[in-house]
Amino acid sequence: MKSINSEAISGKTVIVRADFDVPVKDGVVEDSTRIEKTIPTLKLLLEKGNKLFIISHLGRPEGKDPAFSLKLTLPKLKELFAREVAFQEDLEKKAEGEVVLLENLRFWKAEEANDDLFAKKLASFGEVFVFDCFSVAHRSHASVVGIPKQLPSYAGIEISHEVEELSKIFKNPEHPLIAIIGGAKLETKLPAITNLAKVADKVLVGGKLMFEVENVELPQNVLVASDNVDGKDIGEESIETFAKEINSAKMIVWNGPMGVFEEEKYAVGTKKVAELVANSESYSLVGGGDTISALKEINMIEKINFVSVGGGAMLEFLEAKRLPGLEALGYYE
Ligand code: 3PG
Repeated sequence: MKSINSEAISGKTVIVRADFDVPVKDGVVEDSTRIEKTIPTLKLLLEKGNKLFIISHLGRPEGKDPAFSLKLTLPKLKELFAREVAFQEDLEKKAEGEVVLLENLRFWKAEEANDDLFAKKLASFGEVFVFDCFSVAHRSHASVVGIPKQLPSYAGIEISHEVEELSKIFKNPEHPLIAIIGGAKLETKLPAITNLAKVADKVLVGGKLMFEVENVELPQNVLVASDNVDGKDIGEESIETFAKEINSAKMIVWNGPMGVFEEEKYAVGTKKVAELVANSESYSLVGGGDTISALKEINMIEKINFVSVGGGAMLEFLEAKRLPGLEALGYYE
């Protein structure tokens, strides 16, 4: 995989597929972590004398909708990047400026449909493509797999970092390696559980999954929560069993809450696991929106060694599925 860390790209107009899919409330960005993580790539490219054409999606709009406009991210981007950023609303004419941000890609149906003409149109705004949005690496969208067919393409700093950290689990695991998978949607999580069971010493399963796996034959080293609170949280006995495993770990990977943690009564399991993971001496790698929120709520996110921006993409990486966005960059060659 060619990355902007190793290749000198200068004097070009670079299209950067960034991750500005941030939570917005009342028109204001609530959590700018994803924007912050893209800044090093933007800065490096600019320092090398390139112009930037930044593209991203925001949420899941049904067509053009001001509530999902990337304009809402502009104040935060300008503040973090400390640069003037021009905004381009349509594909007719390129906006003037050293740094341009295009409107939400998902305002065009052609983005998700991976339309060839749309990818060509996007590619026409630059000479080089940099992909730095790990959280959509599992989507075959025009801005993920279409543009790389048109332009020389490179991995950005953030995505290189994601891949380097996540692949440690398979390439350099430290034992005991403990994986923790929670949340719901067995069909998306079972492949990750099964694959992790091959490398991990134990895979701990909580959240709604503990019921969803009831009739599923699982590998012997998968430990499913044995008790629960009203079917909405893991129980005390499970917390104790999980604590023993987490405390023995040299490496921990965690995705998905242990219960309905938005309701205080059912947040005990998730918060306890969050505390144990954060206070553990081991290397910890965490991902998924809810898991990150739980760690932020108890002010312990800083204690995690690596926080993945990918939810679905992280799970698919853990299940060893080929991610189209990485494939397009030549990662599997
Ligand atoms: C995410 O939040 O995981 C990414 O931005 C991907 O969003 P999507 O699930 O709507 O494709």
